[in-house]
Amino acid sequence: MNLEETQKKLNEYFAEKLEQFGATPKGVDYNGPEAQAIRFEQLVKVIHPEQPFTVIDYGCGYGAMFDFLQQKGWTFEYWGVDLIEKMVLAGRETHRGFPNAHFTTDEREAPLADYLLAGAIFNIKLETPYDEWRDFSLQTLQRMNALCSKGFSFNMLTKYSDPERMAQRPDLYYGDPLFYFDYCKRNFSRNVALLHDYGLYDFTILVRKDV
Ligand SMILES: C[S@@+](CC[C@H](N)C(=O)[O-])C[C@H]1O[C@@H](n2cnc3c(N)ncnc32)[C@H](O)[C@@H]1O
Repeated sequence: MNLEETQKKLNEYFAEKLEQFGATPKGVDYNGPEAQAIRFEQLVKVIHPEQPFTVIDYGCGYGAMFDFLQQKGWTFEYWGVDLIEKMVLAGRETHRGFPNAHFTTDEREAPLADYLLAGAIFNIKLETPYDEWRDFSLQTLQRMNALCSKGFSFNMLTKYSDPERMAQRPDLYYGDPLFYFDYCKRNFSRNVALLHDYGLYDFTILVRKDV
């Protein structure tokens, strides 16, 4: 299956989840709200919230990150970007009352933001070969880098997971944290953090450009 086919299948996959579970963590394929909150807490570490900021939530789903940021009491302008139109519509509908919430399927509509956060967008590769998915993830990181000025963060399932677990799910992509740390250091900024200490089968990378 090539990337285009994969993307089409992934669209169907996530659209089905949303249909089945609505605008809830399960609707974007999480087990529940706890894991989602733990991951969000890592991703937002790249933000300096003392100043108002703009943020792109890349692969936003129905925009749960918006609520997370709002609950922190921070002042920000949020742009949720997702490939799937139904997700974007769900995001708009759920956040109708918030003038600082914007949703789009077209990343070119978003302004250059201070920060970009990308939660769980690389996890499902379906039948795409490992190397191809890795290349695709790197191209996506390049695009994410161009969309923000102060920094970005993303997370990924880790190849330091139990081998039996990985063997059971060949449709998932388990990335090598050291590879991505090295790639970000060499390509994006000298200031990169690798977080792999929060009890889930994944890791988070923070790229700070404004240190
Ligand atoms: C597992 S969900 C996570 C949603 C949200 N980030 C969260 O953590 O609640 C992944 C979402 O990323 C979107 N996505 C995946 N790759 C993307 C890309 N390259 N550009 C935009 N959206 C993408 C999918 O459509 C899906 O809605």
